[in-house]
Amino acid sequence: MTILVTGGAGFIGSNFVLDWLAASNEPVVTLDALTYAGNLGNLAAIAADQRHSFTRGSIGDGVLVGRLLRQNQVRAVVNFAAESHVDRSISGPAPFFETNVMGTLHLLEAVRGYVAGLEEAQRSGFRFLHVSTDEVYGTLAPDDPAFAETNPYLPNSPYAASKASSDHLVRSYRETFGLNTLVTNCSNNYGPLQFPEKLVPLVIHNALSGKALPIYGDGQQVRDWLYVGDHCVAIRLVLERAEPGTTYNVGGNNQMANLEVVHSICALLDTRRPRADGKSYAEQITFVADRPGHDRRYAIDATKIGRELGWRPAMSFTDGIARTVDWYLANPTWVADVTSGAYRDWIARQYG
Ligand code: NAD
Ligand code: DAU
Repeated sequence: MTILVTGGAGFIGSNFVLDWLAASNEPVVTLDALTYAGNLGNLAAIAADQRHSFTRGSIGDGVLVGRLLRQNQVRAVVNFAAESHVDRSISGPAPFFETNVMGTLHLLEAVRGYVAGLEEAQRSGFRFLHVSTDEVYGTLAPDDPAFAETNPYLPNSPYAASKASSDHLVRSYRETFGLNTLVTNCSNNYGPLQFPEKLVPLVIHNALSGKALPIYGDGQQVRDWLYVGDHCVAIRLVLERAEPGTTYNVGGNNQMANLEVVHSICALLDTRRPRADGKSYAEQITFVADRPGHDRRYAIDATKIGRELGWRPAMSFTDGIARTVDWYLANPTWVADVTSGAYRDWIARQYG
C-alpha cells in the first residue's frame, strides 16, 4: 500500500514524509506544486530512496491526482497543500481561495472518483486526512478556555477563512458522500525546514543577517507553540487509529507571547553565535505596525487526542527551540537557497 502526501515539499509536509519513511517501509508519493514555499531540497535526504516518488503538480489538477491514486493504489491521502502565510493572505487573498478552497474541492472530487472504483474492503479502509489549523476558531480573550473541537468557527483572516472553508468541504464529503475523512486542527509549528517568512525562522535569519527583528504591535499576542515532529506523530496516530469523520485539535500546551519567543531565540543565538560587538541580538528587536485583524491569542485544548489516541507533545519548548536554532545555524546553504529571488521581493514589500 502507499500513501499520497500533498504539499509534501513544504515545511510540515516534508518533515512528515521524512519521519514517515524513517519509521515505516510503506511507500510515499509526494505531490507538490512547488510554489515559493515548496522546496525539493527539503526532501534531498530521500532523493535516492526507492520508497519515495515525487510529482510536481497541483491538488487542483483532478486528472493528475486521479492518475497518481490509481497507479499507486493509494490507501490514504494526507493533505498539507495550502497557501499558509497569514500576511500574504492579507496582501493578496485570491491564491488562498484558489488553492485552499478550490484546490481542496478538486482534490476531494478526484479522491471520491477513485474511492468509488475500489473494492469494498479497500473503500472502507481508505482515509483522507486534511491538515488544518487552530486559526479557524478565531481569537481568544486572556481568560477564555482553550479551543476545543466543539468551538464555533470564527475565522478572522483570509487565510483562516480559506482553511475554515476547506474544513467544511471535507466535512460535507463525509456527510454527503461517505468519504472516510479525518481533520486535524493544529497550533503554531516550529522546527527545521520552515520557510523564513514565519516568525521563528524569520527572527533567526534576520538576527544573523544584522537586520531588524520585526514585532507586530505590542508583541503580546499569544500562540501555542508545537514542535513540528510532535505534529507529525499526531497526524500518523490519527491516520492509523481514528474513527472516520473525527476531528482532533493538536497543540503544544505551550502558550507564549511573541516577544517571549523572540527573546528566547536571541538568548540562544547570544551563546551559540555571539554578535561581534558583544551585545545581545535582542538589541535588533523593532516594534512595527500591527497585522490587520491580528488574532490576540490561540490556545489548544488537546484533551480529546490525548484521551482517545494517547498523543501528547514529547518535545519541550526549551529543547525544541534550541534544536531549531541549531538546525538553522548548521544549514546556511538551505537558508541561502530559499532566501534569494522571490523571497527578497516579499520581504521588501512586507517590511519596506
Ligand atoms: P508551507 O507553506 O510550508 O507548505 C505548503 C506546501 O504546499 C508547499 O510545499 C507548496 O508548494 C504546496 N502547495 C501550495 N499550493 C499547492 C497546490 N495547489 N498543489 C500542491 N501543492 C501546493 O505550509 P506548512 O506550514 O507546511 O503547512 C502545511 C499545512 O499545515 C497547511 O495546510 C497549513 O494550513 C497547515 N498548518 C500549518 C501550521 C503551521 O504552523 N505552519 C499549523 C497548523 C496547520
Ligand atoms: O496557528 C496555526 C497557524 O500558525 C498556521 O495555520 C499558519 O499556517 C502559520 O503560518 C501560523 O500562523 P501565525 O500567523 O500565527 O504565524 P506567524 O509565524 O506568521 O506569526 C506568529 C506570530 O508572530 C503572530 O502573532 C504574528 C507575529 N509576527 C509574525 C511575523 C512574520 C510578528 O510579530 N512579526 C513578524 O514579522
